[in-house]
Amino acid sequence: MEEVEKEKEDELLSSLPKIKAWQMGYMYKYQGFWYPPHVIHALATCQEHFEAQNTDTIVATFPKAGTTWMKALSFAVLTRAQHSPSQSPLLSINPHDLVPYLELKLYKNKQIPDLSALSSSPRIFAVHVPYQSLPESVKNSACKIVYLGRNPLDTFVSFWHFLNKSAGKGGGETLPLEECFDDFCQGVVACGPFFDHVLGYWKQSLERPDKVLFLTYEDLKEDPSMQLKRLAEFLGCPFSVEEERVGVIQEITKLCSFNVLKDMEHNKTGKSPIANFDNTDFFRRGVVGDWINFLTPEMGERLSNIMEQKLAGSGLGFKIRPQ
Ligand code: A3P
Repeated sequence: MEEVEKEKEDELLSSLPKIKAWQMGYMYKYQGFWYPPHVIHALATCQEHFEAQNTDTIVATFPKAGTTWMKALSFAVLTRAQHSPSQSPLLSINPHDLVPYLELKLYKNKQIPDLSALSSSPRIFAVHVPYQSLPESVKNSACKIVYLGRNPLDTFVSFWHFLNKSAGKGGGETLPLEECFDDFCQGVVACGPFFDHVLGYWKQSLERPDKVLFLTYEDLKEDPSMQLKRLAEFLGCPFSVEEERVGVIQEITKLCSFNVLKDMEHNKTGKSPIANFDNTDFFRRGVVGDWINFLTPEMGERLSNIMEQKLAGSGLGFKIRPQ
């Protein structure tokens, strides 16, 4: 059985366009997006086997858009009836362990997880895959999708730093910034092209606002309370007047803030469920506009121009500097 499966895998990969990317060795184009091979196998398994429930929440992001933050916020909002912020499991468990990735964790290595073993409803999962490649049951059920977008300049810089952490652990050299940037601009990045990813979810959020909520990292930074209220309303558990009065929104915002999460012992020391990474690798600077410290003005202009072109007419825009 295993042999047959393996053959199928090899057939799948060999049928796909392939490219050597600076950041990750070979990547393959599957359903219009680039991935390292192991993600394609996991994604195909997940597409075949994952059955969404109407009460599920899916946190969707492009890598390095602030997934860790969004997982923590979604978890805190959805489970606040069971755990007040002062007794939250976030105080002792990393957000990636509380909100597992479908394609990077649960269906990794083509395993088919027994999700009935998951504690309780509401179930919260995460994905980095684009809307187009979500399992059909996610698209067709009443489950909710929360997408967090981030400006491409900060996303790229964050990704480059993140991959360097992994490269450094393997004794590798720092990845060349210019070449990685060029790949990113051309759409060659894991889960890219970046703009196709963002626009896929953005369009769905316009067409099906009850199904997909589109938030941005920059708006969350600017006014976390307001965005948290949008999130809670969308998820069907708006904050009550009493909750607002006693400051639950502020408590959740604080619990999930960069400085608080980053300094929790388990987030400083634990091993990440994502291979080659430690929990601490998911917390770097956590600001808007850090790209300016790494990209030349020409690079900034190039990616800003691409952003303008790609997003033209969509109604979507990203702030690239702090307010
Ligand atoms: P920087 O590298 O720009 O600092 P992801 O969680 O998708 O891997 O994204 C990681 C990015 O989000 C990193 O960005 C990280 O510092 C930032 N981040 C992590 N937790 C955060 C939080 N609670 N608030 C704001 N940013 C956070």
